[in-house]
Amino acid sequence: MKPLRKAVLPVAGLGTRFLPATKAMAKEMLPVVDKPLIQYAVEEARAAGIDQFCLVTGRGKTAIVEHFDIAYELEATLRARGKEDEIARLRASQPPPGAIVTVRQQEPLGLGHAIWCARAFVGDDPFAILLPDDLVLAEKPCMQQLAEAHAATGGCIVAVTEVPREQTNRYGILDVGEDDGRMVEVRGLVEKPKPEVAPSNLSIIGRYVLTAEVMGHLARQERGAGGEVQLTDAMAKLIGHVPFHGLRYEGRRFDCGDKIGFLEAQIAFALKRPEMAPAVCAFLARYTAETVCA
Ligand code: UTP
Repeated sequence: MKPLRKAVLPVAGLGTRFLPATKAMAKEMLPVVDKPLIQYAVEEARAAGIDQFCLVTGRGKTAIVEHFDIAYELEATLRARGKEDEIARLRASQPPPGAIVTVRQQEPLGLGHAIWCARAFVGDDPFAILLPDDLVLAEKPCMQQLAEAHAATGGCIVAVTEVPREQTNRYGILDVGEDDGRMVEVRGLVEKPKPEVAPSNLSIIGRYVLTAEVMGHLARQERGAGGEVQLTDAMAKLIGHVPFHGLRYEGRRFDCGDKIGFLEAQIAFALKRPEMAPAVCAFLARYTAETVCA
């Protein structure tokens, strides 16, 4: 079995739920505490042993690519001020030269279309997908959990979590076969089903390991839910041809493409920082005491 070395990070979406913040700025550059979402995703992939990255970008996303460049003027200024630690921190977060390539999705036709734009990068290899606006706080990074599961089973693996049944119409939902409490066999996948027809309440989050065969199905560019080329529909066609599992990952996921999810992520990640936690607890207590919630 080929090792997992490649990751595709789609960042060409419009981020309409975050307007006006995303009018001139990429959603994936929004910071949680002091790091942009895209950097969390790249670091998580690197922790899983992935060393080749493909960013699927679009208009107005230049800052994402520049974020991974060396900022010479900034480093010179930091050096002149004796801030060598800051320079070391910036350098450590930077993948080696040549590790990141970009491809262009000229029109945001859907997640499936964005992934298909990376077909030449993927070639015949298994590959990971990380959606940067899904942030996972975990002891062992979520993609590492998936990579370890993939090494054992091969095929396709998606990270999954239970969602309230009334929210199934927001997510890709699994039809579940055998279930050992951690790994579930995937029998079917449906994108955004209404609660009354959803086969379960187990939803896919933005972490996947897929086989290259998915590209053949995406190439047909069939439109699904919302008129978009849906990754879920192409993945569903692999079921029965390759092993396909869902992994109940350990950790907490925040949907940072959504305002409430984003705010919650700020608090959760800040509370994990010993130098910030006391001040955050203090202001949370103050606001909670002052606010009457309906
Ligand atoms: P979302 O479903 O969150 O869509 O995309 P969006 O357009 O970014 O945001 P909203 O719904 O309008 O607020 C999930 C991920 O897939 C990428 C996004 O950049 C994001 O990282 N994506 C989505 C693309 O790269 N291309 C697309 O056509 C759609």
